[in-house]
Amino acid sequence: METKKVYKLKTWPKVVLVILIILGIGLYYANERYKEYLYTLTYEYKFLGAGYKQEDYDLFAEKLTDNELDTILNYEYNEFIPEFVKQKYFMFKNLDGYLSQVITQEDDFFKYHGTEGYDYPHIVAKVNVGSINDPYENAKKTDFSYEYGILANKYYELGVDYAPDDLVDIDIKYRYDGRKQIRREAYDAFLRMWDAAYANGIYLVVDSAYRSAAEQQEVYKYYEDYKGLSFADSIAARPGFSEHQTGLAIDLYSKECAVADKFKDSKSYKWLVENSYKYGFILRYPDGDKEKEITGYKYESWHYRYLGIELAKKVHDEGITFDEYYAYYMES
Ligand code: DAL
Ligand code: ZN
Repeated sequence: METKKVYKLKTWPKVVLVILIILGIGLYYANERYKEYLYTLTYEYKFLGAGYKQEDYDLFAEKLTDNELDTILNYEYNEFIPEFVKQKYFMFKNLDGYLSQVITQEDDFFKYHGTEGYDYPHIVAKVNVGSINDPYENAKKTDFSYEYGILANKYYELGVDYAPDDLVDIDIKYRYDGRKQIRREAYDAFLRMWDAAYANGIYLVVDSAYRSAAEQQEVYKYYEDYKGLSFADSIAARPGFSEHQTGLAIDLYSKECAVADKFKDSKSYKWLVENSYKYGFILRYPDGDKEKEITGYKYESWHYRYLGIELAKKVHDEGITFDEYYAYYMES
């Protein structure tokens, strides 16, 4: 009997210990499996499973909302998506537009070349400003709540009836012949700029300022008659779409140089490019790859737009066109 009792006393703790060990191991593995299960619910798991690299996922997680992440997961794997998300001016609502500008399928053997060789910043800018759409078709209405930051381009229409109500005459001292007008605040800013330029030996002269829609029609028609529609569209806005109709744009030359093609090489131009933003004006139609697909107009070294000092400085400091700035920071 006594032997049996001893046996019992020695065995039970062992049994309990074994059970505890088995339970512990079981719990440990159950916990590991549960953690694995939880991981399968994360975006990281889903994106890696969809074919994206860890660095792609890290980028998405940093830049996109959960809704946007879900939307991308509903697309097939697309190697271009990270390339676009990386861009400074990437806008999620334009993702389909960006993707429409690259070849994503190997169907076309001669065109497909992976993600190499694309100018991503340019594609993003072009899509953001709307220029993958036909100009003048389905143009939006200019948002007049911006006052001096209103946008008029081939995708934003002032309407032929729009006319500012605070136009003032530009004094003959500052202009060529013929009545020229500009909005009051822009005129005050222009006079300050004029004085500063004059102090630097530059005598600025206004060639064109406010133009009504009817006057813009004359300008446009002149070029159309001269060399046809597409030539006219490359240098003049259609009525209802011109910045000149805002009363905030001026075409400037100087006593030093009043020749359109040569103004870009003048000291006056250099001064304007470096200083006009301090007075609230920006060069509106720059050269290079901004011409055809961003502003939609050939380089105009003479055309300056008043935006107000604060906005002009921001646009100048970003180093992009007003069209791009508006699309990214101001468009609602
Ligand atoms: N020359 C500019 C683009 C205009 O006509 O408004
Ligand atoms: Zn102009």
